[in-house]
Amino acid sequence: MPDTRDVKSYIRTIPDFPHAGIRFRDVTTLFSDPRGFRVAVDQLLHPYAGIRIDKVAGLEARGFILGGAVAHQLSVGFIPVRKQGKLPGRTIAQDYTLEYGTATIEIHDDAVQPGERVLIVDDLLATGGTAEAGVRLIEKLGGVVVSLAFIIDLPELGGRARLEKLGLDVHALCA
Ligand code: PRP
Ligand code: ADE
Repeated sequence: MPDTRDVKSYIRTIPDFPHAGIRFRDVTTLFSDPRGFRVAVDQLLHPYAGIRIDKVAGLEARGFILGGAVAHQLSVGFIPVRKQGKLPGRTIAQDYTLEYGTATIEIHDDAVQPGERVLIVDDLLATGGTAEAGVRLIEKLGGVVVSLAFIIDLPELGGRARLEKLGLDVHALCA
């Protein structure tokens, strides 16, 4: 039976998590639903039909769940972009600011070869700080960021505008 539910209807909002005033978009309810997860992955891939993608990079942590499924569907390799101190090999690092705090992400320094075309995947785009840091890491290794794909965009936080100003292609399934 075809799924007629909107992707957004699978996502719940938790008020005041992890801090007062934050309306946290919780995608665990989408991931745990077999139709929701399938529909989200399929829809994320639609814009890239016929476009060459060599690798998918997922941003920790929910970008791993989604990016793994997207990479499998495209039959390409997956690269984890992780919070500081988690990757075992030689890494390069990038600091960034978040909607609620600051952090550092890292990538293995041999994860991308010069000229490889990389699709960045994450569950949510807020300020764009995490995504921009991911772009910088891939570009430092000589990779080309083909596009960034998210389930949710929170446009009031400016992430899409920030990434598009850098000349990047951005897709999101809902706001
Ligand atoms: C969330 C989300 C994105 C990021 C978006 O991750 O999954 O990665 O915030 O925010 P930004 O656009 O303002 O950078 P979070 O930092 O909560 O990490 P987690 O997935 O490890 O919990
Ligand atoms: N990351 C940054 N802002 C967020 C939000 N409102 N919901 C879920 N993840 C987030």
